[in-house]
Amino acid sequence: MSIQTSAPVPVLELRGISKVFPGVQALSGVALNLYPGEVHTLMGQNGAGKSTLIKVLTGVYAPDQGQILLEGRAIQPASTLEAQNLGISTVYQEVNLCPNLSVAENIFIGRYPRKRGGIDWAGMQRQAVELLERMQIRIDVSLPLARYPLAIQQMVAISRALLVSAKVLILDEPTSSLDEKEVELLFSVLRGLREQGMAILFVTHFLDQTYAISDRITVMRNGEREGEYACSELSRFDLVNKMVGAPAAGIEVGESDGASAPAAAATVPLAAAPSKLTTFLRAVGLGRKGALSPMDIELRQGELLGLAGLLGSGRTEAARLLFGADKADSGSIVIDGKECSFASPRDAIAAGIGFCSEDRKHEGAVLELSVRENLILALQARTGILRAIPLKRQQQLAEEYVKALGIKTASIETPIGTLSGGNQQKVLLARWLATEPKMLILDEPTRGIDVRAKQEIMDYVTALCRKGMAILFISSELPEVLRVSDRIVVMRDRKAGGEYPRGALDESSVLQVIAAGDVHE
Ligand SMILES: Nc1ncnc2c1ncn2[C@@H]1O[C@H](COP(=O)(O)OP(=O)(O)OP(=O)(O)O)[C@@H](O)[C@H]1O
Ligand SMILES: [Mg+2]
Repeated sequence: MSIQTSAPVPVLELRGISKVFPGVQALSGVALNLYPGEVHTLMGQNGAGKSTLIKVLTGVYAPDQGQILLEGRAIQPASTLEAQNLGISTVYQEVNLCPNLSVAENIFIGRYPRKRGGIDWAGMQRQAVELLERMQIRIDVSLPLARYPLAIQQMVAISRALLVSAKVLILDEPTSSLDEKEVELLFSVLRGLREQGMAILFVTHFLDQTYAISDRITVMRNGEREGEYACSELSRFDLVNKMVGAPAAGIEVGESDGASAPAAAATVPLAAAPSKLTTFLRAVGLGRKGALSPMDIELRQGELLGLAGLLGSGRTEAARLLFGADKADSGSIVIDGKECSFASPRDAIAAGIGFCSEDRKHEGAVLELSVRENLILALQARTGILRAIPLKRQQQLAEEYVKALGIKTASIETPIGTLSGGNQQKVLLARWLATEPKMLILDEPTRGIDVRAKQEIMDYVTALCRKGMAILFISSELPEVLRVSDRIVVMRDRKAGGEYPRGALDESSVLQVIAAGDVHE
């Protein structure tokens, strides 16, 4: 494989960038070279400094030290708009566009083309179509953005970047909410842009994606640049070791490139579920028109049930019905032998159910509250706002979970908004663990969490499960579902496509079930 680093001059060069936040040296002396026509991936554990580096170079933060050179000239962007005008555009994981405006309007917000004193609506639509065509996307640009899936919304954000003729395109974890097909679409767009000479800086925690798209990889560790490597010359195993800073014993890094050490692949000794299990919840014919075809599902104490399936296959819909977040219009739920009907999540919580939702934006972190306050929110809601949890107990709980989940924070009183994305996610997970529910629904709980922490967290959850919790685990990451689940229900087209015991399926047979409805058919 040839590596396109032939251009002698980097389009963007960072030299000795340092940034300190109160109590945290987020970046120290970081260097980075970005060349035209390359995809350069930034990797590192949660809190390593990736997002901070990007924010420095896009004008969100001023660096304390160091220099940014764009095509050899020093720049000091004071805002994202200024950076964008210089040719540095950024697309974040959470697309910051206006869902109610049309696709075309979203591309042109703030730069509407004008004609005879008014806005040139026709010209705008035409140009929007052209920009999207550059990425092989043909959609009706007059429809509201919200009508399209997240992947398309991200393409719209990228088109916006193309409009200002970006030289550098930065993507910070753009794929963490995309399904496999959508990732493929995004990658084909990125490959096209790379061919046109764009320099692309990409942040992800997915090793497969890194190896699918990168020309080079920069590894960050504890705010420092650990090193820069040609992707083709760095094995997965070495990559993980470099991120962690020590031999990453016990971390599965995938065998697909044959580069992982045998010791790493062989370490999956999860304790098996006890043979005799008590049913905690049984739902029969649970469904809701337009969301989920009636399905049966059973959750048992001490057992981890995995829900596999593509985005939109009905996994989250099933979870919401079980939690009373949506009202079922068919079926029944029986808990501990008693029939229940949940009018709201409050009823489900009272029945001992917890739900760590994938919807971080709406049900997630309260940014200005501290780690401790965020962490006890669900527990406090359960005990009732009138019966405040004593401060001592709150501190104890917070310290306990910060330690157990390896949350990187200056203290438990630090506002959660200043934590890195992955560390915020860990606090949200801890919020539900702290309620010690009898049954816990985890919907994509490790999104944005680095490769090592992901495995540690799922091992922790499995241990809790073995103590008697019933767990429903939803994840788009098949290897993870296969590794931790005692039983797997595969969802497709908003219905249950089959239920399988541990070991009955591998990745390809799950995909077969998703595609065809059952194995061997
Ligand atoms: N605004 C801020 N105020 C205080 N500390 C901050 C702020 N932003 C980031 N930090 C700290 O800087 C460090 C680096 O965070 P950063 O968000 O860059 O990590 P990251 O590599 O992007 O991690 P992740 O993979 O979890 O997204 C962390 O310790 C974080 O808590
Ligand atoms: Mg980040």
